[in-house]
Amino acid sequence: MNEPHQHRRVAESFGSDAERYDKTRPNYPSALVERIVASSPGPDVLDVGCGTGIAARQFQVAGCRVLGVDPDARMADRARQGGLEAEVAAFEAWDPAGRTFDAVVSGQAWHWVDPVAGAAKAAQVLRPGGRLALFWNAFQPPPDLGEAFAEVYRRVQSGLPFNPWARPVLDAYLMMCGKAADGIRQAGTFGDPEQWRFGWDRRYTRDEWLELVPTSGGHSQVPSAKLQELLAGIGDAIDTMSGSFTVRYTTVAVAASARQHRDPV
Ligand SMILES: C[S@@+](CC[C@H](N)C(=O)[O-])C[C@H]1O[C@@H](n2cnc3c(N)ncnc32)[C@H](O)[C@@H]1O
Repeated sequence: MNEPHQHRRVAESFGSDAERYDKTRPNYPSALVERIVASSPGPDVLDVGCGTGIAARQFQVAGCRVLGVDPDARMADRARQGGLEAEVAAFEAWDPAGRTFDAVVSGQAWHWVDPVAGAAKAAQVLRPGGRLALFWNAFQPPPDLGEAFAEVYRRVQSGLPFNPWARPVLDAYLMMCGKAADGIRQAGTFGDPEQWRFGWDRRYTRDEWLELVPTSGGHSQVPSAKLQELLAGIGDAIDTMSGSFTVRYTTVAVAASARQHRDPV
């Protein structure tokens, strides 16, 4: 049970406050979306782990027809309210019913999918030359503040199986990219996976950050009193930075193309 995708209770817990999730989680850089669209053979996109539709809406704006799939009915419902067609299933078990796509994308979600079974499933639904593109927003506050956040998580025994700030966040995301790339190679039906990075900054007030924290993986399982303790400690740490701070985002992506010619099945 060491891999995130094996922790199903956490993997399917984001919908406990889908509204907050949709309101507070950031978009992805438009340069990433444009690059995926430009390198895909057509406009049909499958968004794996679509959640409330944050990434999907960006692909729709870029002119794509998007279908979402997510095992959490609460997230899929919120996505439908925003105009996305969304089906409820874990991707590994989802029935494509013969449908195929020009791109399979996944934002902040592929670590909740079995990377080997997921890549094989993506290969099954991609048209020849279709793109598999997996991406994550890694976010790093200023070093002093990151250390103060880590200290709050050490002090408050929240029951989370990990301290989100114990090491540089980008390292954790690069490890996810490595696992995703290994799964793609194992599928044996893709060209070499490429890795992309996009850097950007966003300023947060104390209140904006405190709205975002409960949407982090596993936090919906933290008992309410402990969550309040975490938020109070995090808020105090932000106050020492005069109430706002800049987060350095690095959007990391792994992308690969389905081989043009497939052996007949
Ligand atoms: C952190 S959210 C990301 C949502 C959205 N893609 C975004 O960019 O905001 C992760 C999503 O992955 C979904 N998920 C978890 N396990 C999954 C699986 N096996 N197949 C597909 N989606 C999964 C969760 O239900 C959740 O909605």
